[in-house]
Amino acid sequence: MTDTPTLYEVPERVSAGSPSSVPDMNAWRREWLRARNNPDGFWLEQTRDRIAWRKAPTLGLEGSYSTVKDGPFSWFSDGTLNITESCLDRHLEERPDKVAILYEGDEPGAVERITYRELHARVCKAANALSELGLKKGERAIIYMGMVPEAAVAMLACARLGAIHSVVFGGFSSEALRDRIRDCGAEMVITQDEGMRAGRTIPLKETTDAACEGEHSVKSVVVVKRTGSDVGWTEGRDVWWHDVVEPASAEHEAVECAAEDPLFILYTSGSTGKPKGVVHTCGGYITYTSYTHQVVFDLREDDVYACVADVGWITGHSYIVYGPLANGATTMMFESTPLYPDAGRYWDMVERHGITTFYTAPTAIRALAAKGDDFVTKYDRSSLRVLGTVGEPINPEAWEWYHSVVGEGRCNIVDTWWQTETGGMMIAPIAPATPTKPGAASNPLPGILPVLVDKDNRILRGPCSGHLCVDYSWPGQARTVWGDHARYVATYFSTYPGRYFTGDGCRRDEDGYYWITGRVDDVINVSGHRMGTAEFEAALISAEDVAEAAVVGYPHPIKGQGVYAYIVLQPDSESDGGEALEKALNGVVRTQIGAQARVDTFQIVPGLPKTRSGKVMRRILRKVAERDVSNIGDTSTLADPSVVNAIIEGAGLTPPAL
Ligand code: WTA
Repeated sequence: MTDTPTLYEVPERVSAGSPSSVPDMNAWRREWLRARNNPDGFWLEQTRDRIAWRKAPTLGLEGSYSTVKDGPFSWFSDGTLNITESCLDRHLEERPDKVAILYEGDEPGAVERITYRELHARVCKAANALSELGLKKGERAIIYMGMVPEAAVAMLACARLGAIHSVVFGGFSSEALRDRIRDCGAEMVITQDEGMRAGRTIPLKETTDAACEGEHSVKSVVVVKRTGSDVGWTEGRDVWWHDVVEPASAEHEAVECAAEDPLFILYTSGSTGKPKGVVHTCGGYITYTSYTHQVVFDLREDDVYACVADVGWITGHSYIVYGPLANGATTMMFESTPLYPDAGRYWDMVERHGITTFYTAPTAIRALAAKGDDFVTKYDRSSLRVLGTVGEPINPEAWEWYHSVVGEGRCNIVDTWWQTETGGMMIAPIAPATPTKPGAASNPLPGILPVLVDKDNRILRGPCSGHLCVDYSWPGQARTVWGDHARYVATYFSTYPGRYFTGDGCRRDEDGYYWITGRVDDVINVSGHRMGTAEFEAALISAEDVAEAAVVGYPHPIKGQGVYAYIVLQPDSESDGGEALEKALNGVVRTQIGAQARVDTFQIVPGLPKTRSGKVMRRILRKVAERDVSNIGDTSTLADPSVVNAIIEGAGLTPPAL
């Protein structure tokens, strides 16, 4: 490392949270310094203390951000393990009858409690069954499921075999699923007959069948029965989960893996092109998720921990399945939505299950706050101790509501900043030590060295705003993009050579607190779902009537960001650009991306503001979408500047006087 980041300052005053926690903050500050001075030693110590290695590692980080173009860096590379022994086997001695997975289905009270002993047996049976179907170490299995316990069992069964899973969120369309199956060359798809969400069914098997049309590598499709509806069946390829798993032996010898063997691939959206298959590896990822889950949430043995994300996203991987199970926690899996059957569902579950730690996204908080306090206050929330958020910036009003109404002013709020690529939380308060500020992700965790840089890659010191980078690797960092290491290097390590570039903008205040301001690239974040504007554009352009399309995000009171699409119609299009066209275009978006993707606002424009070299000036489009054209900036490099006024007027705004 050539330069070290500015050390964050410990604030003098506590603005919220527990005042008695200030002395602990100093202990954490010392821990951060200790880790900074010797990150490799710090992480080796962490992993030896918390992970069941077969062969304990002696090596920390090998390789670096400067050499990443020649190949991935590694952590703990001389160690061997099977991460399911950390998540399951070792708990059989200490806590066999503790609930590992506390499952609540779509209907309130549809509860299943799976102990560590039972989960171990279920994972072993599934591992034997999948192995019998031919799944081997290093091969890929796609998991396309809703939130049922078998989704976690399937992930762990793959891990037990050393097979690489790739969970695809159940809202994705058949085309999106097909892309992922092909990109990773999956041998197997594990799915359900149907999913259930808010009383509605989701045709998971049907979508899988459509995804498997044409050429593909899938040899078997394993189907969990959830609703019992009739589904199509391909003999020789499809098998019922219960037919193969139930008769299998409940004993299975876990396959020994190298620390750096891939554990999973998770596809995530970026600025350009199709989603990337981000690769996480066994030893580093399990160490990092275990550490952060325990530290940030101040985990205690009798906690009832509930992260209400979906296993289709990284939050579900790291903080429903892997981190909590490595820590022997009781972790909740929730199939439904915050609004089903009404806006009291979360707090009803808090009361019924005695939830101590609750982790959700700002979008859900804003949506629930809008429904009024009564849905919250009618339930007993006295069990709650720590309340977390993730996925997007939380506005101070939503933070205050979460703190004062949900948490009755006595819970620690942890606003955790991280990414699919970081594997786990990076900048977050440590409950209850860190004095919090509404809207700030606060301080980097021990072992994490963030820097803010200007566009010339110069480190900014003290209070400032800049692009958020990280200067030194940590064990949970993604190692590569599946099948395309050059893309990994280009995406994360070329903008600011020698640093990991997060794609986020960030402000640091006078107390050294980090305030994430959002993406500075062409990624948009709708309801905590990360999507690429390029994916929307590719879908829209494929529609018959559309000649060109440009998509930007704009602030949305509930969803964080909304999607705004500028459409140039084909010259021969007969569409009048009304509701029928909008419906048709959203249909195309849904088919190509998935149910979670939808354009909120369409605007038909005569042309896009392009530079003479043909690049769309998105800055202008963002301003119009934000309905603030007072400071549109320099348009002199545009090929046709008149198009700007046409777009502004078309949006019902008044062009600024020159
Ligand atoms: C955003 C989700 C502000 C950020 C774990 C990041 C946040 C992207 C926060 C990653 C937060 C996540 N405050 N912004 N606490 N957490 N983000 O990969 O823009 O789905 O780059 O991972 O979400 O989204 P992803």
